[in-house]
Amino acid sequence: MTNCRICNAPLNEFIDFGRMPIANGFLAPEQTDSEYFFGLRVGFCAACNMVQLIEQPERERMFNENYAYFSSISVRMEQHFKAFADMVLRDYLGGDPFVVELGSNDGIMLHNFVDAGIRHLGVEPSQNVAEAARSRGVNTICSFFDEALAGEIKAQNGPADAILAANVMCHIPYLHSVAAGMKSLLKPEGVVIFEDPYLGDIIENTAYDQIYDEHVFYFSVSSVACLFEQHGMEVVDVLPQHTHGGSMRYVIAQKGKRAVSPAVAEQKRKEARLGLDRLETFHRFRSEVEASRDALKAVLQGLKAEGRRVVGYGATSKSTTVTVYCGITPELVEFISDTTPSKQGKLSPGAHIPVRPYADFAAAPPDVALLFAWNHGEEIMEKEAAFRREGGKWLRYVPKVEIL
Ligand code: SAH
Ligand code: TMP
Ligand code: ZN
Repeated sequence: MTNCRICNAPLNEFIDFGRMPIANGFLAPEQTDSEYFFGLRVGFCAACNMVQLIEQPERERMFNENYAYFSSISVRMEQHFKAFADMVLRDYLGGDPFVVELGSNDGIMLHNFVDAGIRHLGVEPSQNVAEAARSRGVNTICSFFDEALAGEIKAQNGPADAILAANVMCHIPYLHSVAAGMKSLLKPEGVVIFEDPYLGDIIENTAYDQIYDEHVFYFSVSSVACLFEQHGMEVVDVLPQHTHGGSMRYVIAQKGKRAVSPAVAEQKRKEARLGLDRLETFHRFRSEVEASRDALKAVLQGLKAEGRRVVGYGATSKSTTVTVYCGITPELVEFISDTTPSKQGKLSPGAHIPVRPYADFAAAPPDVALLFAWNHGEEIMEKEAAFRREGGKWLRYVPKVEIL
C-alpha cells in the first residue's frame, strides 16, 4: 500500500519506527514466541494532506474477543462522553430520534442515551467490550461498520439523526465505505459527529506514541473535508477537545443542509500556518521524535545507573510504540501498573515488561513513575498527590522529556 487511501495519490513516507507488535496485544508469558510484528511506517499525502500508516495489520488481529481497552476505566472520559451525549440530545435530534455509534466499546457514550430513553444502536466488533455494553442495557451489534452494515441498520431501524464515533474513525482503513454508509444511513438533516486525536496536536507535542497499528489515520480538518466531499457531505463545524492529548471533533452534514461555522475555515488557515500541508513539517517531526527517543533513553539509563526504581504508569496502547521504539526493557522499567484486569499478569507487547495491578504500585511506590498514560495526566496526578508528597517523581516524555 503506497497510495493514499483517501485520494489515491502517492504517499510520501516520512518515518519508520521499525518492527512493531499489536499495540493492545498484551501477552501471557508463553505466547511471546508467536508474537506478530509488522512494519510501522507513516506517510503523508501531499494532495489531500492525509497522514496515514503505510501498512496496517488485518483488522481481526486488533479488534476481537480479547480487545484490551475498556473505555469506562477513566472517570474523566465518562464525564467527557456525558457532555458529548448531552450536546447531541440538546442540539441534534429530530422526531422519533435514532442514534448510532461506531466503536461504542463498553457503552461509555451510549448509556447516556439509554438513560434518556432514546432509540440507539452501538456497532462494536470486539466481542468482550460489546458484551460489557449489553450488560449495562446498551443495544449493541457485534460487527464492523461499513456500507453494507449501514444498509442493514437502516432497513431495520430507519434513518439516523446522529451517527457518532469517538476514537474509531482513525482506526478504519476503508473510510470510503464508512462514509458512503453514513451518507445513506443519515436523515437529510442528520449529522455525523466524530472525534479523534488531532494531527496538529501530535505534531506540536511530538506525541509520536499516538502512532500505532490501530491508528491508521492522523486527521486534520482539511484531510477530513477531502474525504467527505467525495461523498456529497461537508464539515459544518469543528470543536477542539482536550481528550487524548488534543483531539478534534468534526460535525459533518449532507452538503448544503446546515450552515457552515466560520470555525471550519479558521481551523484550515491554522493548519496551513502549522505547515500540516507540507512534507517538510513531517521531516522535522521525525527529527524531533528521534531526539525525544534519545533523551528518554538517556534519562532511564541514568536512573538505572543511580539504582533508582522506575515503574510505568498505565499500560496504554501508546506505550507499546514508546517502549519498543526506545528499547525500554524490564531492566529499565520494573513493571507497568494498570487498573485494567485483562492486562494484569500479562507482558507488554514487544518489550515484554510485566503489567501488574495498581495495588502493586501503591504497596511499594517507585522512585520514579514513567507516565505512559500522559493523556490522563491531570486525573492521575490528582489521584497520586500522596506519591509526589512522599518524594516520588514523575517522568514524562510528551510534550518533552522531563522529570516533574
Ligand atoms: N469510542 C470508545 C472506544 C474507542 S476504541 C472511546 O472513545 O473510548 C476503538 C473501538 O472501535 C474499539 O472498541 C474497536 O473494537 C472499534 N472498532 C474498530 N473498527 C471498527 C469498525 N469498523 N466499526 C465499528 N467499530 C470499530
Ligand atoms: P488510554 O491511554 O488508551 O486511554 O489507556 C489508558 C490506560 O491507563 C488503561 O489501560 C487504564 C490505565 N489507567 C490506569 O492504570 N490508571 C489510571 O488512573 C488511568 C486514568 C488509566
Ligand atoms: Zn490523499
